[in-house]
Amino acid sequence: MTRDEQKRAVAKAALAYLTPGMTVGVGTGSTAALFIEQLAARPELVAAAVPSSEVTAAALRAAGIRVAGLDEAPAPAVYVDGADAVDPQLRLIKGAGGALVREKVVASASQFFVCIVDESKLTDRLDGSTGDHPEGAPVPLAVVPMAAAPVAERLRALGGSVAVRRGYVSDDGLAILDVAGLDLSDPERVEAELKAIPGVVECGIFARRRADVVLAGAASGVRTVVAS
Ligand code: A5P
Repeated sequence: MTRDEQKRAVAKAALAYLTPGMTVGVGTGSTAALFIEQLAARPELVAAAVPSSEVTAAALRAAGIRVAGLDEAPAPAVYVDGADAVDPQLRLIKGAGGALVREKVVASASQFFVCIVDESKLTDRLDGSTGDHPEGAPVPLAVVPMAAAPVAERLRALGGSVAVRRGYVSDDGLAILDVAGLDLSDPERVEAELKAIPGVVECGIFARRRADVVLAGAASGVRTVVAS
């Protein structure tokens, strides 16, 4: 299967985790968009969808699916979203699309996290090579805009190289900094360390709220990955 076919296949396979009438958390990105297409074809499965971005909310509405906030519907039984990197313990890097704050909020409020990826995202360790990033996927950070310079300085002191997404503002009015070159051999520790920097609202390491299952595309079909 091509990469796009893999994404389509895992998006369809995620439907198996839904039961009729559920509240479903819905992620952001190209793979999540394909999941919304699948949901549109099975409207009985979803009573309400909690979106992780304005883009996802608009796509859900266009598909005829009821959009709700976390205060308007029961907590999502399942959250379905893509990722930029996935390690064997199902810890993730997310946020290439800039939606990491709401993604972590909705994922953390959900009972079960189904992560859907093509196989290029699987890596032996979180800072390891992925299809798109031979030197490791950068970790996005959502940052209060006026704090971008001192946060970048702290990140460089930790050994990271920092790229600010120029002209980009997140749904919550935040700047996004992409940090490459961090040692992620202890992702939980680094997640906590990055979040503790004043001005950082969220970091794209999903180690504490990792996936519960990963559906990974492969040349031959969909592989279900559980934590090793
Ligand atoms: C969005 O902010 C991201 O976390 C996406 O979930 C992640 O970048 C995966 O996106 P794709 O499905 O487009 O690869």
